[in-house]
Amino acid sequence: MKIAFFDTKTYDKPSFDKYAERAGITMKYFETKLTEDTASLAQGFDGVCVFVNDTVSALVIDILLEQGCKFIALRCAGFNNVDFKHLAGRMPVFNVPAYSPHSVAEHAMAMLLTSIRRIHKAYIRTRDFNFSLNGMTGFDLHSKTVGVVGTGKIGRCFIDICRGFGMKVLAYDKYPADIPDVTYVDKDTLFRESDIISLHCPLTDDTYHMIDDDAIAKMKKRAIIINTSRGALIDAAALLAAIKERRLGGACLDVYEDENDLFFEDYSNHIVSDDVLARLISMPNVIVTSHQAFLTEEALDNIAQTTIENVLCYLTEGCDKNRVIV
Ligand code: NAI
Repeated sequence: MKIAFFDTKTYDKPSFDKYAERAGITMKYFETKLTEDTASLAQGFDGVCVFVNDTVSALVIDILLEQGCKFIALRCAGFNNVDFKHLAGRMPVFNVPAYSPHSVAEHAMAMLLTSIRRIHKAYIRTRDFNFSLNGMTGFDLHSKTVGVVGTGKIGRCFIDICRGFGMKVLAYDKYPADIPDVTYVDKDTLFRESDIISLHCPLTDDTYHMIDDDAIAKMKKRAIIINTSRGALIDAAALLAAIKERRLGGACLDVYEDENDLFFEDYSNHIVSDDVLARLISMPNVIVTSHQAFLTEEALDNIAQTTIENVLCYLTEGCDKNRVIV
């Protein structure tokens, strides 16, 4: 059995090699992303393994099907990059619904603490033997209100972490669950009453630009927004305008709506043409990481194990474990 693995990074290989070898699967690692131009590389393979910024558009799907591709194995939880309407069930798509919700929730808190305690500034200052504290005043998280949008696996981990800091938690979810001691409120109340808002819901038609001018206008002045979910939950231009107007206290972004052509790559010697991103990055109260919230050893191992199990189970027993049904 052979799998064409797209958008390969060096950190992907050790865990995938380990589980693929055990399962007798041959992996062919391509550094390029899956796109309409590269789909032909999957010719002769049983299936493809793709990540968040690979394109599984209508044309890519047609090429893959024509080449005899039997499955699409996503090595991530989100699946907004797949055109399911066009696919219409003609081959299964598997995902890894949970690999370490802790990795993402802990990263969200790491970004928040970095931002409000100015760790990113302190790191640079002390390396230059600048031990001044001017401009470094932060604030306590204790007793602050955090609004968590999406109380699934990651949202719940984040709530637990926030509780450890003595924060008051408000939650909004389209499908509220019965979680002890979580107060669900409507979205507007959450926007109005939270000092910190953290997004943990999927990107859907419903949630696209959930944070826009209108939503920001309802928020507390100086509120901080954390997004470790999907970039397009936030209208980045509206966010930038609010940061420039000092309407918001800051933003912690692990994802960005136009990240596809930038994130995961080294552009340090290029001129980046995305003015909104460049301006956001230039702000002292905006922290950007390049979709790395998932990146822990535990998560990488779980991702590889589940992805290989999904494929093996389907090809040997025809089972549909972790098949994405939309
Ligand atoms: P999950 O499926 O366990 O939870 C998602 C929650 O969002 C559910 O409770 C669901 O009811 C809720 N939801 C759905 N539609 C909603 C809406 N319109 N408004 C409010 N809530 C809504 O997913 P999980 O594992 O907690 O992941 C959350 C998101 O995190 C994923 O969709 C993915 O986009 C993102 N993610 C980001 C990673 C990163 O490295 N930055 C890694 C893994 C996931």
